[in-house]
Amino acid sequence: MTTARVPPNLLHHWELNMAKKKVRVGFIGCGGIAHFHFDHYDKGRMPDAQITAVCDLLDDRVQETAKRFGATPYKDYKEMLAKEKLDAVYVCVEPCAHTGMEKMVVEKGCHLFVEKPVALDLKYAKDVEAGLKAKKLINAAGFQDRYMDFAPIMRKWVKDNIKQLGFFNAYWVGGMPGVWWWRRRDTSGGQAVEQTIHTFDMCRYLFGEVLTVQAIGRRGVITDVENYDTEDASAVNLTFDSGIIGTVFSGCFCREGSVGRNGITAYGMHCYMDYAERTSLKIQEQHRKIDFTVGNDIGQEEDNAFIQAILEKDQSIILSPYSEAVKNLEVTLAANESMDKGGKLITLKK
Ligand SMILES: NC(=O)c1ccc[n+]([C@@H]2O[C@H](COP(=O)([O-])OP(=O)(O)OC[C@H]3O[C@@H](n4cnc5c(N)ncnc54)[C@H](O)[C@@H]3O)[C@@H](O)[C@H]2O)c1
Repeated sequence: MTTARVPPNLLHHWELNMAKKKVRVGFIGCGGIAHFHFDHYDKGRMPDAQITAVCDLLDDRVQETAKRFGATPYKDYKEMLAKEKLDAVYVCVEPCAHTGMEKMVVEKGCHLFVEKPVALDLKYAKDVEAGLKAKKLINAAGFQDRYMDFAPIMRKWVKDNIKQLGFFNAYWVGGMPGVWWWRRRDTSGGQAVEQTIHTFDMCRYLFGEVLTVQAIGRRGVITDVENYDTEDASAVNLTFDSGIIGTVFSGCFCREGSVGRNGITAYGMHCYMDYAERTSLKIQEQHRKIDFTVGNDIGQEEDNAFIQAILEKDQSIILSPYSEAVKNLEVTLAANESMDKGGKLITLKK
């Protein structure tokens, strides 16, 4: 038997071709947030990646997406993961539907992006986190606010001033998303878990780890939604390892004529910070005032970072890893537990 040798010049070409190979991406869930990501993959914006397989329980959604990207459509994610050679998978399903797909993605050795909240079951999320770590897979979760151009400036300012910051107020007050699963705790997790979790994430990003959670909530304001069983309004008191204390308000009862609010305001002895509407930042000190407005496309940056991290085999490129999403889930589930137990103080395990 003779062994054919690849001439060195051809080997070089082969390596170059391999280096140019696109990251093959699959999607589980082709609903609202998946379309946010699809727009970043469309029109040559991400030349190093290609959506090659898509899956949704709803036929019209999956067919439309498959056509858009020339991808193979699936109804069953197990079949997709078994048949397709994928490098990375996005999971964009409703909060109650994280029922095994992440574990199978990890088992297959694919890199993983999961939309927030990454599950409603903390143990499930921790198992996925352990699997990702054991297999050293690149991972990300959909907390895109961390990619704002001024986010590192805001974080550094908080760190420099943390000793003189007394407390913060944070808000996600607005209307109610229209998706069927949002109005019930068992399918969405409730507003703190599903929506205000972005605000909790930014509080953790700025102020450090949460030590205790104590929450109250109320129902009965909303009268125009059928089959609705989650809090209309809640207030969650948090203490942090950095010493700061704060309250995160959630409300989904605002209708025509009302005014919502989104952001984090921190009050210091000689300073003040107001991060508003996920787009602007005002910092005030004794002798200066600084204003920032977000200047980058945070969703595009989030998806670019995921693909770049895969290509460079460098998890540190990801600003919102799965492990951070697990911590956010832990805090918001503790808020639900506290609300259910009449405001009981919950101490989080280190
Ligand atoms: N990062 C953000 O800013 C942001 C914004 C909106 C929504 N989200 C999150 O994204 C998730 C999805 O929200 P959405 O608005 O896209 O919901 P959606 O209802 O529009 O879409 C979810 C899709 O998942 C599909 N699906 C459910 N189970 C499936 C399964 N087993 N296999 C294949 N497909 C399945 C559904 O059929 C549906 O099409 C939620 O957790 C939500 O909190 C994140």
